[in-house]
Amino acid sequence: MNKVIEQIGKLGVVPVVAIEDAADAPRLGQALMAGGLPCAEITFRTAAAESAIRAMATEYPDMLVGAGTVLTVNQAERALSAGAKFIVTPGFDAAVVDWCLSHELPITPGVMTPTEINLALNKGLKLLKFFPAEAAGGIKTLKAIGGPYVGVSFIPTGGIGVHNLADYLRLPMVHACGGSWLVKKQLIAEGEFKQIEKLTAAAVKLVQEIRGENHD
Ligand code: 3PG
Repeated sequence: MNKVIEQIGKLGVVPVVAIEDAADAPRLGQALMAGGLPCAEITFRTAAAESAIRAMATEYPDMLVGAGTVLTVNQAERALSAGAKFIVTPGFDAAVVDWCLSHELPITPGVMTPTEINLALNKGLKLLKFFPAEAAGGIKTLKAIGGPYVGVSFIPTGGIGVHNLADYLRLPMVHACGGSWLVKKQLIAEGEFKQIEKLTAAAVKLVQEIRGENHD
């Protein structure tokens, strides 16, 4: 397994970030690390994404800074040159997948149906983003998908928070969960980095509790 993918699995949670001002990126990175999650998926939903990736990756080179909501090859190229260590896409886009594979850049494309999973499997990808998790049927759907797709793991994202994180993490096919609940846009904009650190630490604690259950 790729090292970045492996580390994400160990962390258990991928904070999904939409940041308006790249100047906030280093402080956000600091808060996430202080909370115990040296990882961020910075989404191309805002114009600041590329510079925020660069700012966070430069300040904290050991952090797993990735790019999310990547819709085009151009965005993937910009993300990589800004220092992104992984790419996340909301849907399956063959051109973006091929580009990432040819640059040895880990990519987790979004899938929601068996047909999309087949497309990803045909590219040799076995770790996929299940998106939008809750709207697509959540845990019930993931369990059903786990039947035919043995060996495929997922990062469910969309509608996940402290209320359901544990239930997802207990599923054997779940590698980690993604979500914006601990890095809400408003918290970043208002400089609530202590609160982000607290929410992050709470998520990390939950992951540790769940993972601890498996070793009893
Ligand atoms: C994403 O971009 O992956 C999702 O919008 C994150 O979903 P959430 O905001 O429901 O956590």
